[in-house]
Amino acid sequence: MLEHGAAPPASQQAEPNPPVGGLGARLMRRKPVERLVAEGGRGEGGSLRRSMGMWQLTMISIGATLGTGIFVVLGEAVPDAGPAVVVSFVIAGLTALFSALSYAELAGTIPVSGSSYSYAYATMGELIAWVCGWCLILEYGVSVAAVAVGWGEYLNELLDGTLGFTIPDALAAPPGDGGIFNLPALLVVLLAMAFLLGGAKESARANTVMVAVKIAALILFCAVAFTGIRAGNYTPFMPLGMAGVSAAGATLFFSYIGFDAASTAGEEAKNPQRDLPRAIMLSLIIVTALYCLVAAVAVGALPWKKFSGSEAALASIMKDVTGQDVWAVLLAAGAVVAIASVVLTVLYGQTRILFAMSRDGLVPKVFSTVHARTGVPRANTVIVSLFCGVLAAAIPLGQLADATSIGTLFAFALVNIAVIVLRRTRPEMPRTFRVPLSPLFPVIGFALCLWMMGSLQFVTWVVFGCWMAVGLVLYFAYGLRRSRLATAEK
Ligand code: ALA
Repeated sequence: MLEHGAAPPASQQAEPNPPVGGLGARLMRRKPVERLVAEGGRGEGGSLRRSMGMWQLTMISIGATLGTGIFVVLGEAVPDAGPAVVVSFVIAGLTALFSALSYAELAGTIPVSGSSYSYAYATMGELIAWVCGWCLILEYGVSVAAVAVGWGEYLNELLDGTLGFTIPDALAAPPGDGGIFNLPALLVVLLAMAFLLGGAKESARANTVMVAVKIAALILFCAVAFTGIRAGNYTPFMPLGMAGVSAAGATLFFSYIGFDAASTAGEEAKNPQRDLPRAIMLSLIIVTALYCLVAAVAVGALPWKKFSGSEAALASIMKDVTGQDVWAVLLAAGAVVAIASVVLTVLYGQTRILFAMSRDGLVPKVFSTVHARTGVPRANTVIVSLFCGVLAAAIPLGQLADATSIGTLFAFALVNIAVIVLRRTRPEMPRTFRVPLSPLFPVIGFALCLWMMGSLQFVTWVVFGCWMAVGLVLYFAYGLRRSRLATAEK
């Protein structure tokens, strides 16, 4: 292992790039793993700080994962799957699991902030890495905006239940959705920005508290709703057959997005090689167990036909079971905290991915400038937060938000390939975690991602295609020439 910050000797750069030459060779140039690792933490004018242990990393992944999926999307999936929604959660969880194994191997081997972008750079070359990074902007940046909009809806519910008023539509929805500006969505993003500017360690601490609150809210739900379970509610178990169950599984995949967030903290972890794989796998196990438990209790307490795609399914179950509004208010409070922690951690992840891309020269330097005293990429954090805040507040996200799943699945698919490529090109590298039965498991992970992508709507593919086209134009206009590998070649 190279010392943090040391430049790797040329002899250790075991993956020679294709010779400088034609466009094809430039698009395929790879960044040696040792160089990626050696540059870890270093930005312009300062370095990121290594402050996070295994638990905080696990909390980052749980923080980014557990949110609107279980509080909102569950209610939309039950009408498709019936009580077998539990099976849908298992199917979506299995899809996530195969990719999580691949993430765990690569995060332990290449523990840098760029996550799958950096894994692709080391294995498949610059163009694919850029495409992956551009997909991650959908997974992280655009999804922050979408999740922030969901936060505003729960905030209104909480205000209604406690103070008896709601923020008027004009200030709670963007133009095109019946409003002028979505103020709550902007507010939650700015709040997350304030935490992030305070430092990664402080943000991780705040996130740990929020994760504890959201897990407590879900356990409270299970304890209360358990008393309302009727065995008859579980039959028929699969009213709409396996097709309904797998359709619900594709919808519920959204609830697993974010387990990879710990991998964006590779340069701020104290012992990333050891802790990142553990954090990724542990968070996925905890989240899957909670999802299955909550889903099993929810469909046991409320007949599946009564789930009308309602946004606040869990809250109305609690109201039904106890006959008291106070439980629903408590749950809304839990959801407000839960979704705020998704915003915080996903925003964090986005800043760190851009940090890595900027250090490689593919996006402007301002994204890798680190404040010397706090160790925070300040300008990056402010720019990303303002971008996401304004996106959430002023633009009806509609199809763009749906495209987050397709972008995420594409990035996951690339990570599965990256594992296979790195095993072939660098079999001797020390790996703290190995995907069992490789290449079989990564191939299954890759196939599952493609299968899920195939189940998404045509219009989502069109939006994704447009997004990728914009990304490619930007790469050829900027990254191709500014890439640090390119300037080193000159
Ligand atoms: N998995 C995250 C959520 O459910 C995106 O909010």
